[in-house]
Amino acid sequence: MKRLSLDEAKILLEKCRASLKQVDMTRGRPSKQQLEIGMRMLVRAGELDYTYAGGDARNYGDMKGIPAARELFAEVFGVSKENVVVLDGSSLSIMYRLVANAMDFGVMGCNPWREQGRVKFLCPAPGYDRHFAICEEFGIDMVTVPMLADGPDMDMIERLVEEDASVKGVWCVPKYSNPTGIVFSDSTVKRFAALKPAAKDFRIFWDNAYIVHSLTGEQHHLENIFDAAKKFGSEDMVYELTSTSKITFAGSGIAALAASEGNIADFISHLQFEMINPNKVNQVMHAAYLKDVDNITRIMGEHAALLRPKFELVDRRLFEAFGRDCPDVKWTRPLGGYFISLDVNGVAARVGELTKYAGVKFTKVGATYPYGKDPHNSNIRIAPSIPSLEELDFAMDALISAIAIALEE
Ligand SMILES: Cc1ncc(COP(=O)(O)O)c(C=O)c1O
Repeated sequence: MKRLSLDEAKILLEKCRASLKQVDMTRGRPSKQQLEIGMRMLVRAGELDYTYAGGDARNYGDMKGIPAARELFAEVFGVSKENVVVLDGSSLSIMYRLVANAMDFGVMGCNPWREQGRVKFLCPAPGYDRHFAICEEFGIDMVTVPMLADGPDMDMIERLVEEDASVKGVWCVPKYSNPTGIVFSDSTVKRFAALKPAAKDFRIFWDNAYIVHSLTGEQHHLENIFDAAKKFGSEDMVYELTSTSKITFAGSGIAALAASEGNIADFISHLQFEMINPNKVNQVMHAAYLKDVDNITRIMGEHAALLRPKFELVDRRLFEAFGRDCPDVKWTRPLGGYFISLDVNGVAARVGELTKYAGVKFTKVGATYPYGKDPHNSNIRIAPSIPSLEELDFAMDALISAIAIALEE
């Protein structure tokens, strides 16, 4: 470990700026090489059979998605096909729609949230900025819940959900969480499933965006929330989501919702006015290419081979600069997903300014907390997927020198 002196850090930062290089690490997007993996799907697209028993993907019909795509996601989620709806390129848009429906029409026969006074969502943080943005868009109050090593602070979640009927939802990224990379423990999942909400229309938004996104090749265990919920008769409480945005094409893949039959019927009762069916041609292409969980795991191994060296580089550079025991600089070492969460004791905003000056952009500081306000001014989300290894090395020069300067200041 070699901690830079203030002078050395200033020289390195100026050197970064003078190089005129620009690196954008604001979002967790797949790199070009990763996107090339998915091109195999398109090569065969013209030869596929777009008809199936009872339907033709090129025509209207099958609002819940084609049977093969529903079966595929049923296997991914570990639920039955009847509990799955497959839609278009974005799971985020399904989440948005679920919230919009709850606001306007209510959840499974309950009064619309809009008519129930102010409603709240629990927001484990650091978390995914776009979840928080949905709440802001609808004027839903957000309550920050600390994220611990094995999931959100469940004592706090139980207390708030079970005592306060204005708490209507909680955002969760249970596997390789955005941005901390943690996987919820079995006990956390069980405690979620066992919640006894004060509000009948309380829902867990189980955003399993990184369900198959191991970086190590090993498949890390996440308890199936629906299996756990069955034991407590709480299946209606859960919406689970995922997509192929980081398996095939970001925003141009397919996305899925898993939920109880009651929730699915409720969702479809509104969706039927919005569309006749999703893009089923894309679903045929995806089902034929992805095939099953084993094959998806193999494809994800190819992604991991491209991503892992980038995560290792960030970890190595931070370790060389600050060691593992520096109280002011702590970061996660995720086993999957797209992010490293870095905490720089009280100087995140200054670090963001300095790296921007040097040509490197990170996710807006504060964005990982509700209302964009990190109470400790500490968290920086590192998304290492897009830059090349050379660019990432440069970005780490900028980041390390910025941290050293900000801490000295
Ligand atoms: C936790 C999480 N959920 C959802 C998304 C967006 O997924 P989609 O492309 O399916 O809308 C992302 C993208 O970064 C994410 O990190």
